[in-house]
Amino acid sequence: MTDPVSDRTEASETNAASPELEWRDGDMPYSTAFGDHFYCQTDGRLECGHVFLAGNGLPARWQGRQNFLIGELGFGTGLNFCETWRQWRQLSAPGAKLHFMSFELYPMRAEEIGRALSHWPEIDGERQALTDAWPVDLQGMVSLTLDAHTHLSVVCGPALEGVSRAAPGFDAWYLDGFAPSRNADMWSPELMRALYDRTSPDGTFATYAAAGFVRRNLQAAGFTVERRKGFAGKREMLCGVKPA
Ligand SMILES: C[S@@+](CC[C@H](N)C(=O)[O-])C[C@H]1O[C@@H](n2cnc3c(N)ncnc32)[C@H](O)[C@@H]1O
Repeated sequence: MTDPVSDRTEASETNAASPELEWRDGDMPYSTAFGDHFYCQTDGRLECGHVFLAGNGLPARWQGRQNFLIGELGFGTGLNFCETWRQWRQLSAPGAKLHFMSFELYPMRAEEIGRALSHWPEIDGERQALTDAWPVDLQGMVSLTLDAHTHLSVVCGPALEGVSRAAPGFDAWYLDGFAPSRNADMWSPELMRALYDRTSPDGTFATYAAAGFVRRNLQAAGFTVERRKGFAGKREMLCGVKPA
């Protein structure tokens, strides 16, 4: 079986930025703290659509919903958020409100987010709005009302602490915490239980990860887990549902 994020790990040239962040192949961010890329090198925006949106049954599940709460482990560059916001603007029910709540240990600076997202003209408007609103002080919770229908919260700090303090009601989860082999904390039994406990009945998760211990932790938490074909030639990914 291939490593589910193996194509994130092939390195090339390096230009140091912050202690945790390097730039490779131009504007591709790479975490030296975790030894991994932030998104797949084929096309992170299309990967988001395949893994996180389709894996959670989105945008179809937005139909008929006036409020929808998405949780994400690992905000990173905000790529998943911007792509989700772009699709939400086009495909959600009239007047419906999206709350996207992400949990991030090392929030990036606005200029780093802007550089990473500059690769995709499709999300130019979302990138600009996000970086314009993004604060300089990155502690506690970043809370941004980006338009009349979209609110972003980024809870800064370890995900287990943030999720454990969060209120229930999540409809979908994007599990995006680097490769499980490099960052077991983001896939631990405790964290999977904490997010399961805060998921609404029929709520879902999706991830590019396919490691056996991740699947077992999600099943032990209570999710019904399904294997699907991964993005860009990856054999498998996982998605699942909290039984009603
Ligand atoms: C693969 S990247 C996420 C990419 C992101 N979703 C995007 O759209 O760009 C994983 C993220 O998880 C964060 N992270 C790693 N360990 C964490 C932890 N224990 N708690 C919270 N965030 C963590 C990293 O700092 C990194 O930003």
